[in-house]
Amino acid sequence: MTELSSEIHPIFDVVLPRAEKEKKLQQHARAVWLFGLSGSGKSTLAVGLERRLFAEGFTTHLLDGDNVRAGLNRDLGFAAAERAENIRRVAEVAKLFVQAGIIPIVAFITPLRELRELARTIIGTDDLIEVYVEASIENCARRDPKGLYARAGGGRIQDFTGFTAPFELPEPAGLVVNTDNEPVAHSVERLHQFVLPRLERSPR
Ligand code: ADX
Repeated sequence: MTELSSEIHPIFDVVLPRAEKEKKLQQHARAVWLFGLSGSGKSTLAVGLERRLFAEGFTTHLLDGDNVRAGLNRDLGFAAAERAENIRRVAEVAKLFVQAGIIPIVAFITPLRELRELARTIIGTDDLIEVYVEASIENCARRDPKGLYARAGGGRIQDFTGFTAPFELPEPAGLVVNTDNEPVAHSVERLHQFVLPRLERSPR
């Protein structure tokens, strides 16, 4: 990370405190970060979790890799340095949401351990709930919801995660949801059970 220039003078000390915003929203703001292969089910689980939390009165916002890459990160591709910048930016955005008292639900492949470490460093481990959405590459390729595995297999996508770009298995942290054989509703249920006590303020 580059050093802060001496001409920048942040005013973090005078902005309305996060605690006031969390109190108003009646929640503990933490970033729920889902990572895993393309096709593993991250977006599906993120959507399911957000709908459930929203219905329960939580204030959330979904940050999905493809959506963010269609806007803020549309200048970034999939080479290693661009993925690092992709994760750095979304982690900074997630942190802004947490400071606003809002719960960001982040669904990005985040394929390398050092990228997951970068997200931890930016957001802080106390404010981060890590979830590995696990599925075999064979199942992801079979589901192929966007037709990308077929194209990558035909050599038409460069640096495709799991094929020509690495996906490193996670170090034990947070929750692992394996979607190989489990119906979506069960996975959402387990995810919800895991995050709920970490987001709740009592009494709601
Ligand atoms: S990350 O590796 O930088 O975290 P991110 O989650 O933002 O990836 O974007 C992944 C999405 O981009 C995939 O779900 C897929 O739809 C699309 N995509 C396009 N090209 C690639 C590629 N080469 N590798 C992985 N995903 C790709």
